[in-house]
Amino acid sequence: MTSTTIAPPKVRQTKMLIGGQWRESQGGKSFATINPVNETVIAQVPDGNAADVDAAVKAARTAFESGPWHTMDARDRGRLMNKLADLMESNLDELAGLETLDNGKPISDSKAADLPLAVDCLRYYAGWADKLTGDTIPVRGNYFCYTRREPVGVAGQIIPWNFPILMAAWKWGPALAAGCTVVMKPAEQTPLSCLRMAELAQEAGFPDGVINVVTGDGKTGAAIVKHPGVDKIAFTGHYETAQKIMVDAAGTLKRLTFELGGKSPNVVFADADLDAAVAGAEFGLFFNQGQCCCAGSRLFVEQSIYEKFVEKVVARAKTRHLGDPFDTQTTQGPQVDHDQFTKIMSYIDKGKSEGAQCLTGGRRFGEKGFFIEPTVFGNVTDNMSIARDEIFGPVLSILPFKDANEIIERANSTYYGLAAAVWTRDVAKAHKFAASVRAGTVWINCYDVFDAAAPFGGFKMSGMGRECGEIALSNYTELKTVTMSLT
Ligand code: NAI
Ligand code: MG
Repeated sequence: MTSTTIAPPKVRQTKMLIGGQWRESQGGKSFATINPVNETVIAQVPDGNAADVDAAVKAARTAFESGPWHTMDARDRGRLMNKLADLMESNLDELAGLETLDNGKPISDSKAADLPLAVDCLRYYAGWADKLTGDTIPVRGNYFCYTRREPVGVAGQIIPWNFPILMAAWKWGPALAAGCTVVMKPAEQTPLSCLRMAELAQEAGFPDGVINVVTGDGKTGAAIVKHPGVDKIAFTGHYETAQKIMVDAAGTLKRLTFELGGKSPNVVFADADLDAAVAGAEFGLFFNQGQCCCAGSRLFVEQSIYEKFVEKVVARAKTRHLGDPFDTQTTQGPQVDHDQFTKIMSYIDKGKSEGAQCLTGGRRFGEKGFFIEPTVFGNVTDNMSIARDEIFGPVLSILPFKDANEIIERANSTYYGLAAAVWTRDVAKAHKFAASVRAGTVWINCYDVFDAAAPFGGFKMSGMGRECGEIALSNYTELKTVTMSLT
């Protein structure tokens, strides 16, 4: 492939969308969103305060109750969602460019993964808008009993910076299909693509107040969580933030769904297709600079193939192409911000000091920006920090294992339970692993396969509830039982 550098897009929208109006913060404050490649300011964005959140919630409430939104024919809601998906597709280059500019992810990934998945997700849920049916229920006595699935109301949606557009689509899709209105807060590191997406929603013809976007940091998020006019919170991010959200939401007993982190086991048996497993080990961890909730960050390799396999994984990690994310050949960009960079580098230091073997990488790449070399640690043991904590960066921990008997217990010895993978040609072994591992998603002989129709979410401290698929609609609906006397 020849290398081409794509020009970053012009940033067209930096204000917040509240009730159909593009606004600055009522507090007059703003914050900078930083380019992770060179640490320069891309744009100033309003720092939304409690008054801005209140205005957004009121707009969302009005749109919900008299908007019209949930009283609009469901099929017309679906049409609007499809129109937004079409507009995102026709502006794909610009949106992908914004994602790369703000987040630092390679443009080839933004274009081939983030955007198509987001568009597909909106279309998938657009198709559900007119299919939310209830049941007729046989009850004792002379009654007619049926259920209705009604929208939960105003949804507060707080998303992270690792897949900004995709996370917005995962949250808007089921909420809008169900007839909810939304107040979204994108992450402070990456607000730009969500603002542009909201502008496209306006162009598509969504009524004012159906989609509101308030920019800001954790304070803004907390104001959404505490607001009595918000019926439900959907959050993706760190479990410690989810714990704060549970406390803040307790006063108003909001419905909560969480998609949190992981320390996912990626298990390679000796009978696997080793080249495919090597590719899956690399992609499963290094994709998106390692900033994936489901990253295969504990790579368990069966003892008998350990040396050979590790050598191949290290060789493959060394072929990763770091550099300007707008270069189409780049496969690894910078980490999203200084905090993440520092956190990851501190884990690399811990890995070294706790006695793991640093087989490649382990250093900053370049002098500018938040680049980190693809790093592989060998002979990692279960109790080391790099085997226990979510690093959220390009740091792979490889752990040898003896046989199928010990692997389940070791794979499950984590407080997380988001994803897991197993590589083997033995069908029974694969399904036994899939049934025994405590994780919300299991990949067999593949990694990071996502689909809007396939539920995703975590066991244990990796989350509550599921996103994607039919089940995510229930996050945004209340079930109502209606009973009528037939006498
Ligand atoms: P975070 O959980 O603090 O931030 C995620 C979102 O929550 C952002 O929009 C943020 O503004 C908002 N937020 C922060 N505090 C809040 C509060 N008290 N109430 C309401 N909203 C609040 O995650 P952060 O600090 O960006 O990253 C820290 C670590 O979290 C990462 O190193 C990684 O381990 C993990 N993480 C996991 C993600 C996932 O996909 N599961 C995504 C991002 C981070
Ligand atoms: Mg934080």
